[in-house]
Amino acid sequence: MSRILTGIQSSGRPHLGNLLGAILPAIQLSQNPNNESFFFIADLHSLTSIKDGQLLKTNTNAIAAAWLACGFDTSKNCFYRQSALAPFHTELAWHLNCFTPFPMLSNATSFKDKSENLADVNAGLFTYPVLQAADILLYQANIVPVGKDQKQHLEITKEIAKAFNHKMKVDLLVLPEAKIDENVMVIPGTDGRKMSKSYHNFIDIFETEKNLLKQIKTIVSDSTPLEEPKNPDQDLTFSLLSLVASESDLKTIREKYLAGGYGYGHAKKDLFEIILEKFKQERLLFNHYLENLDELHLKLTEGEQKAKAIAEKTIKSVREVLGY
Ligand code: ADP
Ligand code: TRP
Repeated sequence: MSRILTGIQSSGRPHLGNLLGAILPAIQLSQNPNNESFFFIADLHSLTSIKDGQLLKTNTNAIAAAWLACGFDTSKNCFYRQSALAPFHTELAWHLNCFTPFPMLSNATSFKDKSENLADVNAGLFTYPVLQAADILLYQANIVPVGKDQKQHLEITKEIAKAFNHKMKVDLLVLPEAKIDENVMVIPGTDGRKMSKSYHNFIDIFETEKNLLKQIKTIVSDSTPLEEPKNPDQDLTFSLLSLVASESDLKTIREKYLAGGYGYGHAKKDLFEIILEKFKQERLLFNHYLENLDELHLKLTEGEQKAKAIAEKTIKSVREVLGY
């Protein structure tokens, strides 16, 4: 049995990049009967950027609803908010802080990228990788599916676990392996850069039809006139279509691009309709959970009970080893 664990921050609503790059592949992994999955919402990490309680709550609900809408089976697995287990996560993070060399954190790109303006960097952002290590080591995770951008955080986690085990002369913390699918492409956003909450270039498949269409209409395109043939392989709308359309739909659309008389507006309308159809069930379920928050929270609190039993055990062993 392998224990799979991953977290997503609640720094915004889930977008198509999060879905195709993280949520759907993780759910697929969780469907292997030999795996037991721990998927959580890293809302403590979100505090490094969000200082608005209502917004944090709304985002946390939306991320949780997205996991459920995409079919995560919470009865077999463990689904929880990091904040509900904050005493365990933050306590372990403290202990691990004392095994973490300062240069390892000052060299972490998540910090380095923002360090030109140190006044804007809070200490939480600096120690962000240690809290992430605690998230993982608390549950003896074996495999951590993450995007390429998280590779360094997983290396830091392993280094911290090794330092703890070595210095305390124990074999307590389990060294996790990152699972980074090099083939999972970086999903482009409406401006052609990586789709990201921070660039405001995302497609939110859970939006109302009106807003979804509005987002899709902002996809950049060149100025080839409607009548002229177009190169699908150089068009952003087509690359997004290739991520969501069926093979046969994509083939038909490709032919329309090459034939001419098919404008980028038509392609965007097709993308809109294909997204609505492909994610029909997910959109319904997402709205269902947001309209029935009690049901959503019940699933989370059940997961939190299961997670607590494991977290408590790890903390107990760590405390014993440390001599408290
Ligand atoms: P964002 O850049 O929108 O803030 P996060 O950093 O919260 O996204 O990412 C959450 C998860 O979604 C990570 O596992 C990340 O690798 C994945 N992810 C985010 N954006 C993309 C994208 N454009 N393409 C593929 N995967 C993505
Ligand atoms: N840092 C991760 C991200 O931004 C989120 C995260 C927090 C995480 N704790 C984790 C991912 C533990 C995997 C395991 O995407």
